[in-house]
Amino acid sequence: MPTRVIIDTDPGVDDALAILLALRSPELEVVAITTVCGNVPVEQATRNVFRVLSLVRPPASLLIGQGASRPLLRPLETATHFHGTDGLGELDRLRNADGSPRYQQPTLPRILPTAQDVWNECLRRYPRELTLITLGPLTNLASALAMDTSPVRKLRAVISMGGALAVPGNVTPAAEFNIYADPHAAERVAQSGLPLTLIPLDVGTQVALTRDAIRRLTAETTDPVTRFLGDATAIALAFAEKTEGAAVFPLHDPLAVAVAIDPTLVKLAPLHVEVDTEGPTTRGKTVADPRSGGSRKSSPNLQAAVQVDGARALALVQDRLCRR
Ligand code: BDR
Ligand code: CA
Repeated sequence: MPTRVIIDTDPGVDDALAILLALRSPELEVVAITTVCGNVPVEQATRNVFRVLSLVRPPASLLIGQGASRPLLRPLETATHFHGTDGLGELDRLRNADGSPRYQQPTLPRILPTAQDVWNECLRRYPRELTLITLGPLTNLASALAMDTSPVRKLRAVISMGGALAVPGNVTPAAEFNIYADPHAAERVAQSGLPLTLIPLDVGTQVALTRDAIRRLTAETTDPVTRFLGDATAIALAFAEKTEGAAVFPLHDPLAVAVAIDPTLVKLAPLHVEVDTEGPTTRGKTVADPRSGGSRKSSPNLQAAVQVDGARALALVQDRLCRR
């Protein structure tokens, strides 16, 4: 039986690829997608979910809800310099040979449920069965935990892309974007006792596509998802080339979905992790306690992916997303 999942997301180019990976994987049944502010404001994140869904035939029963429009205590800081002003690599610039837009504007329902309502409904239907995969800041989950008898206690597992344990951050030297964007939410989730698996930058950076690989994989394709992979990543690749000297696109969010598909892709270690919420220079840093043994060792509060079979993870993503 497939693993039932809810995806909480802030699309985001790699979020979009992660959603498509999940929808094209028979090992998963995506029961809901909810949005959160992060890479883009939440209204744009929701539009982007509908735009991504228009590329595939999503399950008729899929629930979609809109979540937090701002982090718990911080102002919203987006990542449009990397993901494009639309969050999906400026799709509106692209035209078909006849001049028509390559990507249609999505049609959204007039009324959308909230993320919390969607989660509550899913957890009512499938108590202790659901895996929540978070691909953005943890604001929605932290808000749900603030309730006394929160239904999210009925989640079977939580897999979260976030943090940088033994590597530098990608927003500041100390912090990874999803944690930096809402450190108070991340700290609440980390200390919540939920069965949490963290997929940090340490492993995500090892699952990446170069511009050359993307060109090769997307050449002459007629598949809308494969074409989207080439179209949506172009701006992020140019940004990476300019700032880091190499046109490489890391698949952080798809790796979190890949771990839900095949947990053997990563090696997990139980760790005690705390989030620095104040900084100023280390705000959003995920501090793992490396001490072992003795009374000073703090007890683990999560499992973190510390190794990844990068070749196998990449092969899985390519196999599901790329068709001729
Ligand atoms: C994370 O930050 C976002 O920009 C990406 O979508 C991913 O979730 C990587 O740090
Ligand atoms: Ca994301």
